[in-house]
Amino acid sequence: MNILDAIHCRRAVRDFKPDKVPAALLRQMIAAASWAPSAMNEQPWHFTVVTDANLMGEIATQAKALVLKGVAAMPRSGHFLDVLGDPHFNIFYNAPALLVISAEAQGQWHVEDCAMAAENAMLAALDLGLGSCWIGFAQAWLNSEDGLKALGLPPNYRAVAPLVIGYPKAEMPPVARKKPEINWIGDGLVTGRTPGQIVPGVDGTLTHP
Ligand SMILES: Cc1cc2nc3c(=O)[nH]c(=O)nc-3n(C[C@H](O)[C@H](O)[C@H](O)COP(=O)(O)O)c2cc1C
Repeated sequence: MNILDAIHCRRAVRDFKPDKVPAALLRQMIAAASWAPSAMNEQPWHFTVVTDANLMGEIATQAKALVLKGVAAMPRSGHFLDVLGDPHFNIFYNAPALLVISAEAQGQWHVEDCAMAAENAMLAALDLGLGSCWIGFAQAWLNSEDGLKALGLPPNYRAVAPLVIGYPKAEMPPVARKKPEINWIGDGLVTGRTPGQIVPGVDGTLTHP
């Protein structure tokens, strides 16, 4: 698959077949993740794979309860309450596997490094016929003492990217993108804007010089 096609076609998948994900494919995703760029090539990432349905269920329950506790203070709390208030809502969408990318919480860029690795892993999943979704709802609990213990991680680690993985039940519909706002300083953009002005959006046909 061409890289630009993969970038355009990857979708957050939230409905999975019950089929297990072969370990070899999870390893391929992890290998792709480990080819991500990282600050000073530190490669600080650590990968935790959870395929134990009981543990995934326990994490989902605990994480959901923790998010619900603080939901009132969140932006878009009404939307979150609607979703999380449903007792049948599983934050992991009953996926058969969870891949958590974490790092020792030190240095300046471990979060960015892990996020780069996560995007690689999600693009690799697409190429392998798998679906994935980053589950931000799981992060707060996974970073609690109990959460890190459940992942077998030491207390000085930070769980950055929890990704659920499985075979998608159906093809996901396209998800709209905002037009990119570009503050283009220098040659290359045909527009009457003045320097420093935010351009309200361009279509994808404009190419970089
Ligand atoms: C940091 C982060 C946290 C996210 N958390 C959740 C989540 O908790 N639950 C969920 O269903 N999707 C979550 N997503 C997926 C986004 O909702 C999704 O990427 C976005 O709607 C765009 O859709 P697309 O990935 O299909 O293009 C998260 C994505 C990111 C990057």
